[in-house]
Amino acid sequence: ASLFRQLCARVAHRRADILRTARALGELDVLATFAEVAATSGYVRPQLVAEPRIVIRGGRHPIVERALPAGHFVPNDTTLSAEEAQILILTGPNLSGKSTYLRQVALIVLLAQIGSFVPAEDALIGVTDRLFYRFGSEDYIAQGRSSFFVEMMETATILHHATPRSLILFDEIGRGTSTYDGLALARAVIEYLHNHPRARARTLFATHFHELTELEGILPRVKNLHILVAEEDGQLRFLHRVVPGRATRSYGVQVARLAGLPRPVVHRAEELLAEYEAHERRHVAESSADYSPSSLREIAERLKRLDPNALTPIEALTMLYELKRALEARGGE
Ligand SMILES: Nc1ncnc2c1ncn2[C@@H]1O[C@H](COP(=O)(O)OP(=O)(O)OP(=O)(O)O)[C@@H](O)[C@H]1O
Ligand SMILES: [Mg+2]
Repeated sequence: ASLFRQLCARVAHRRADILRTARALGELDVLATFAEVAATSGYVRPQLVAEPRIVIRGGRHPIVERALPAGHFVPNDTTLSAEEAQILILTGPNLSGKSTYLRQVALIVLLAQIGSFVPAEDALIGVTDRLFYRFGSEDYIAQGRSSFFVEMMETATILHHATPRSLILFDEIGRGTSTYDGLALARAVIEYLHNHPRARARTLFATHFHELTELEGILPRVKNLHILVAEEDGQLRFLHRVVPGRATRSYGVQVARLAGLPRPVVHRAEELLAEYEAHERRHVAESSADYSPSSLREIAERLKRLDPNALTPIEALTMLYELKRALEARGGE
């Protein structure tokens, strides 16, 4: 026992040296691991810059890439910039790779900022002050919080803390409520991030609300992206390639069939889907004529009805963008 006490005393005496060595070894361990992963997995050195831009060529998800056979992961590019492509709206069928793409961008930025090489062909990363990721639906029933409530609380936190240097990833917000409530909330969030000078964060927004892709024509810094799929003899083939533009279909029913839903359920869903879509087409045909102001008189009417004092600056800016677009859409009259 006295031997042990002696040993403790000696260790205690050299405590500072031992801690310093342990810390140095820890750091060396991290750096050696960064180097090993970079060398064995084909990572590159990212270029870090001050301006709020992100330009990634051939980016990959470091973990999904490992789970797939070599060469099966499809690399994708990303361009986000405060001036042109501040908000990217990503649509694409279920299972096409939206969540993977969002996380890949987040991980590349995170790796770059902790001093690692990144899984890409090359990457320019504008230093990010905060990275927000809002996904999935968790609830805390015992604490009186439903999943939709949690989703909105987290969204509120993001909107309160985002800055023009932040990076935000929204994976399908607004899904936990009725379609129109969800769509309305999702759009209002995008308008806020676009128009509020304090919250103008670079944002990736994955969604199944295809209506949101209309914003590309209204808000100048919103750009659409979608993920390609091919349909061959009724079979879906997932290409996982992210390209400009918007998706037109979700293929949710086909994906449900792949997941093994009973055949009668899939069949019935197909029937219902056809009905819903036909109904919507009729509806759109009837109402689209007066959906947005098209004649100068209508635009003037809308301006007349407007009470500037009742508008928030964000609403006013959105309204301006819309009226300007309506005028432009009419061509040179
Ligand atoms: N770039 C890619 N290359 C190869 N495989 C990919 C790629 N991206 C995604 N995948 C594969 O597709 C699967 C589904 O991807 P993910 O979960 O991102 O789809 P999703 O579009 O978010 O679907 P949902 O709309 O249902 O949420 C992944 O588990 C992965 O196996
Ligand atoms: Mg997803």
